[in-house]
Amino acid sequence: MATKTFLSGIQPSGRPHLGNYFGAIRQHIALQEQPGERFFFIADYHALTTSREPEKLREAVRDVAVTYLSLGLDPARSVLFRQSDIREITELSWLLACVTGMGLLERAHSYKDKTAKGIQASVGLFTYPVLMAADILAYDSDLVPVGKDQVQHVEMTQDMAASFNALYGPVFKRPECLLERAESLQKVPGLDGEKMSKSYGNDIWIFESGKALKKTVGRIVTDSRAPEEPKNPDELLLFRFLELFLAPSELALWKERVQKGGEGAPGYGHLKAALIDGMENHFAVARRRREELLADPAEVDRILERGAEQARARAVAVRDRAFKACGLR
Ligand code: ADP
Ligand code: TRP
Repeated sequence: MATKTFLSGIQPSGRPHLGNYFGAIRQHIALQEQPGERFFFIADYHALTTSREPEKLREAVRDVAVTYLSLGLDPARSVLFRQSDIREITELSWLLACVTGMGLLERAHSYKDKTAKGIQASVGLFTYPVLMAADILAYDSDLVPVGKDQVQHVEMTQDMAASFNALYGPVFKRPECLLERAESLQKVPGLDGEKMSKSYGNDIWIFESGKALKKTVGRIVTDSRAPEEPKNPDELLLFRFLELFLAPSELALWKERVQKGGEGAPGYGHLKAALIDGMENHFAVARRRREELLADPAEVDRILERGAEQARARAVAVRDRAFKACGLR
């Protein structure tokens, strides 16, 4: 069986939160245990559709790299790089733009959602899926692990590849989506019970700890029922968080005590303390690794540069194939 190539892009949009971790980062890193090749890049070109602050963008790019490396991305098993280090991406974007109908892009949910909110769209925002298709096709990717919100973009990539291939022959490989199946991990809740998202301000930073973590966890919404009152744990927001961090046996014990109620039953404060412990433990190793990487920025630069070299080798071959097929060479 030919080896599979996995590829995904990560937007550098500020401090990654628990939703990003359980919904995306963890799956990406777990792919290292599977046979195949893995490419992960930081989508800084895509970020320019919204970012207007150079320093913040630079910081956010570095933050994604440090976050992934801290959480277990191993440069010996995964290629980590910056999108903008691969100039073939913009070249391929143009070729794909020339075989893509306006109608296809006009149907993109993410574009429609943004314009419906009154955001003045730039041409870049409109052609965002074309750039994303170039990202995917440039490495002959087989499988693209993404969240539900990106599925349409991968389908558009399939359409663009098919249009190009229909005109010029079999140049691009057809990619498929790889979706996280567990429903609970697709929609990690935020402090208010809505989906966790930076844009809702209800998120918990992956590396939050100590006093700041205590304060943040303190904001998880509860109600005013007394600890003695028996409650259905499956209806409590706090348990949706605890499920992410506690071992099943420990979780079952907490659930039982809450369900039973009565004298000595745990109150919300106890549950929050257990959650804080769980989070501190879960990310302890990653937090230490993060400190080391922050103290050695040259190491992060080296990893990104080496990643770019490996990614470029692939992208050059695909670009050459595409140029030749459509008459540029
Ligand atoms: P945000 O909504 O905070 O801006 P992004 O859209 O940048 O997050 O998401 C980056 C990745 O993290 C995507 O793959 C997305 O599916 C995943 N993700 C974001 N929020 C959550 C969440 N609450 N639960 C599960 N996955 C999430
Ligand atoms: N658009 C993706 C997001 O917002 C990021 C991304 C860019 C991407 N290019 C990609 C994801 C290619 C997968 C494959 O999350």
